[in-house]
Amino acid sequence: MIKAIVGAQWGDEGKGRIVDALAQDASLVVRYQGGNNAGHTVVVNGNSIKLHLLPSGVVSQKRSLIASGVVIDPRVLVKELDAFEARGQPIPPHLLGIDFRAHVIMPWHAAIDIAKEGSKGNAKIGTTGRGIGPVYEAKAARTGIRFEHLVNKALLEKKINDVYPIEQKILNQVYDCHDLLPTAGQILAEYSLLGEKLAKYECDASIEVANAVAEGKNVLFEGAQGIMLDNNFGTYPFVTSSQPVAAGGAASVGIGPQYVVQIEGVAKAYTTRVGSGPFPTELPDKELAHKLREKGAEYGTTTGRPRRVGWLDLTVLRLAARLNGLTGIHLTKLDVLGGFENLKIADTVSVDGKTFDYYPTHEKYFDKLAPNYVELQGFPDLSAGEWAGVVLDGREKGFSALPRQACEYVKKIEELLKVPIVSVSIGAERKQLVWRR
Ligand code: IMP
Repeated sequence: MIKAIVGAQWGDEGKGRIVDALAQDASLVVRYQGGNNAGHTVVVNGNSIKLHLLPSGVVSQKRSLIASGVVIDPRVLVKELDAFEARGQPIPPHLLGIDFRAHVIMPWHAAIDIAKEGSKGNAKIGTTGRGIGPVYEAKAARTGIRFEHLVNKALLEKKINDVYPIEQKILNQVYDCHDLLPTAGQILAEYSLLGEKLAKYECDASIEVANAVAEGKNVLFEGAQGIMLDNNFGTYPFVTSSQPVAAGGAASVGIGPQYVVQIEGVAKAYTTRVGSGPFPTELPDKELAHKLREKGAEYGTTTGRPRRVGWLDLTVLRLAARLNGLTGIHLTKLDVLGGFENLKIADTVSVDGKTFDYYPTHEKYFDKLAPNYVELQGFPDLSAGEWAGVVLDGREKGFSALPRQACEYVKKIEELLKVPIVSVSIGAERKQLVWRR
């Protein structure tokens, strides 16, 4: 049985901690798209582990795969593996597999990403600068370098020699950027060494997942980013270059979509976004926004950028429910909303005399969407100890032990959305998760 975990907003919903919790019952965890633009955080016994490329399953020593749709910066991946080794938890090949088809982020991809953004002025997307757009462009243009090439020095040399002069020309002549890249020879020397280090992880994720399904094992698909950043369905062009939508998981892994039988979305109890683009429920009140940002530690895991913050937007979650076929939602960071006098939830948005209960992503509406809010009473700001007491009470009791208004907030979302909320998180630690179903 395959369960997919997807971001239901603009990324940074807390997917890492949910995948970590669900991984305890899984045999295989498969990351299916994006690259090191993502930052998944898992907190275990006070230690915060930040992952950019490794699937969150590695934290609990579950076999974890990086599927074909992921783009890999081998410098970052090797650093992440080294960090695990330094913590006394090396990752041997039986715990990690990298699909031979996954594409590799090369130095020119990141350089072009940064140069392109720099040339756009106010129209910039606010990318993470990690080369994500250019590497997916190269993949579609058939000029990409795959993991199978990285681990084969002769093929790598050929690929680098084919594309390097063109990429160098683009940097020099289109973006007027000079001396940004090492020479082709230097890149080959560095990347063939990285390839040597990573070669032992090469696998075919499609076959492995098919075998696991045939043996009746539980497989978890781990999405990155979120539906509003999906290249097809998000707020285009302010999106990423991959498909976080759950169906993208089956396509990336190489398995029939009918095997993905449960699809759960992860949503923050409020909304955040990094980078440019529309955000109807963004808090206009700077003081309130500051309070929420600081309380929720809303700074990017990958770039450290302050996140834009706002109220929960159900039109976003309805879109996520439809596009993914959500069977449940994990609501994260509910505790962060403690201490706000009133809480708002956008139920619908209005634009040009029309009202939508889902987020209409047409660019013509970008700056005009007006949220229609439902207002609820806030709940007290409990201490960490008080929140901890709630969880110790166990499953159902745990939920009813939450402050009354916090329960009402969750039930209201469920009532309006008509998607069950399967868990609520009230702290970053593994155990601070209240299961409802
Ligand atoms: P790119 O994926 O680096 O090209 O960035 C495109 C847009 O997606 C930018 O607005 C980024 O801030 C955003 N983005 C990319 N990855 C993440 C993520 O993991 N969390 C939140 N936003 C992201």
